[in-house]
Amino acid sequence: MARAKKVVLAYSGGVDTSVCIPYLIKEWGVEEVITFAADLGQGDELEPIRQKALDSGASQSIVADLIEPFITEFAFPAIRANALYEGRYPLSTALARPLIARRLVEIARELGADAVAHGCTGKGNDQVRFDVAIGALAPELKVLTPAREWGFSREETIAYGERCGIPSPVSKKSPYSIDLNLLGRSIEAGPLEDPNVEPPEEIYAMTVSVDAAPSLGQTVEIGFEQGNPVSIDGVRLDPVALIRRANELAGSHGFGRLDMLENRVVGIKSREIYETPGLLLLIKAHQELESLTLAADVQRYKRQIEASWADLVYQGLWYGPLKQALDGFIERTQYTVNGSVRIKLHKGNATVVGRSSVDSLYVPDMATYGSEDQFDHRAAAGFIYVWGLPTRLWAAARRRDARLG
Ligand code: ARG
Repeated sequence: MARAKKVVLAYSGGVDTSVCIPYLIKEWGVEEVITFAADLGQGDELEPIRQKALDSGASQSIVADLIEPFITEFAFPAIRANALYEGRYPLSTALARPLIARRLVEIARELGADAVAHGCTGKGNDQVRFDVAIGALAPELKVLTPAREWGFSREETIAYGERCGIPSPVSKKSPYSIDLNLLGRSIEAGPLEDPNVEPPEEIYAMTVSVDAAPSLGQTVEIGFEQGNPVSIDGVRLDPVALIRRANELAGSHGFGRLDMLENRVVGIKSREIYETPGLLLLIKAHQELESLTLAADVQRYKRQIEASWADLVYQGLWYGPLKQALDGFIERTQYTVNGSVRIKLHKGNATVVGRSSVDSLYVPDMATYGSEDQFDHRAAAGFIYVWGLPTRLWAAARRRDARLG
């Protein structure tokens, strides 16, 4: 029994997804495999990828440019959320998955397919993100996952592909697994599997090393409207151009590298190297602008919401109810996040050196130690009398009775 007749496969051009094509047809009796490759600004030539799918046996090969929605609907919400998984990783890979899943499902419906497929293995986070997103968006579609079931080693995958006429990966075999898009690069495997091994310089492509960074720093000014970045150094840029510019600026000063041991959804720890220069720079600037424009209690509360938001996105729950509810909260906090932040990039560092906003809650007459001071110093005594009362009462009781400890 064939598992499905017509399948749309999420396609990257790599060995695993290429081998999925003949595998689906030969082993699982699929009649027609249509591939879908997303352009997320990864900089790959997409025409050879489109052709490779056809050469591997696809009946139709679709390439779609999703860069714009990727930035406006996924990256910008992450910036507004200051989203950093486990306090560090800005989710550059994770944010792409719900978008790819959304388009995959749309294409499957447009073409009348009865299933979709992806080439993720059973150990990673991406399978979780794809499966959960597809299940939420199109419960009627089956999800076929050959790479989770075939049990091939890497060599066996390549050998199977060769028997089906798929050329083995080009000569200079990289030991690394790399996922990339306009937001950054995620690099794992090979020598990096030893968490005690320093990442070799050759793995980086968007950032220079601190040693190679110019000795002269550069100050950049990032402008925001309602929490969205809109300009760099006074020049208004569309969202995609803005991310590109932020990547160039931060990357050229060696800012935006991350060497991280992270906790995957499936329960294992893994070591991943990231370079996400622009995104980390923009989140840093955004956080800073919030410290000027959000009320103290909102700011503190939002930090907890942000951690939950990042967890949800990492764990594949983009289309879930909690994510939607948290988005509502974040959206409401961003009305006043307008203004600009100046950051000095220098030798791997990004140091905030100034911030300003029309919605600033910083009141100079309150903060100053000079003669303009409007703060009523005498009022502090009454406040502290009440504020400290429970502590004084407790301390007094403790002095009376040593058993209170
Ligand atoms: N660990 C990252 C995440 O789950 C990236 C996963 C893909 N990494 C890779 N090198 N292929 O978001």
